[in-house]
Amino acid sequence: MSETETKVPRHVAIIMDGNGRWARDRGLPRIKGHEQGAESVRAVMKAARDLGVEILTLYAFSVENWSRPAAEVNGLMSLLPKFLGKHEHLLHENNCRLRAIGRLGDLPPKTLAELERVMSATAQYSERQLVLALSYGGRAELTDAVRAIAVKVEKGELRAGDIETETLTAHLYAPDLPDPDLMIRTSGEERISNFLLWQLSYAELVFMPELWPDFREAQFEEALSIYAKRSRRFGGLAAC
Ligand code: FPP
Repeated sequence: MSETETKVPRHVAIIMDGNGRWARDRGLPRIKGHEQGAESVRAVMKAARDLGVEILTLYAFSVENWSRPAAEVNGLMSLLPKFLGKHEHLLHENNCRLRAIGRLGDLPPKTLAELERVMSATAQYSERQLVLALSYGGRAELTDAVRAIAVKVEKGELRAGDIETETLTAHLYAPDLPDPDLMIRTSGEERISNFLLWQLSYAELVFMPELWPDFREAQFEEALSIYAKRSRRFGGLAAC
């Protein structure tokens, strides 16, 4: 195996796009696309484990998604606890901790309760992490971080002049997570769409043509091989 083929990203973030189009192409309701999308989540979790990816962050529901029709929003909000109930064993079998980032207080009580149950049932695992972005927006996250910092300044716990980039990082929803090395977006769209705005600063971006329900192990492996061929410089010079 060549050197590039062995370069595995530690943290992969994914914008799972195209569920609606997948359903429309088959004359099905949009929720059927999300259900098939949940199968892709399971497949990608397994592929990530097999390929040695430690952290997977998935954009499962954005702050903007609340404006979709109620039937779709409710469908997604009940799909999540169903998915967790069905696949919780995978987390236990793989020493995988479930976490969530976003304005979680916006979630319906039943969805939040199941999410919190599985998060605490897996809190002891440290080998792998599955991070779900729920009611998540990059601007909302930065706004929440700035508010928390401002409160500390108001209370006299922090001086404005002492605020550094690390201060902002420390006030994100999951401050201990390393930045994603690779961000994948499916369905051919080439945008960030308010996902992890701070954390993606130096990530490699890979845009894949497949709709999310068609994105399985082989496509994930392909995205990782594209990543392996990239040269990351973090603003410095390429190594000779
Ligand atoms: C974007 O496709 C996808 C979403 C808004 C939801 C993602 C949710 C899942 C994959 C379901 C299950 C997730 C978990 C973690 C169990 P879109 O609806 O915007 O597609 P479109 O652009 O084709 O309309």
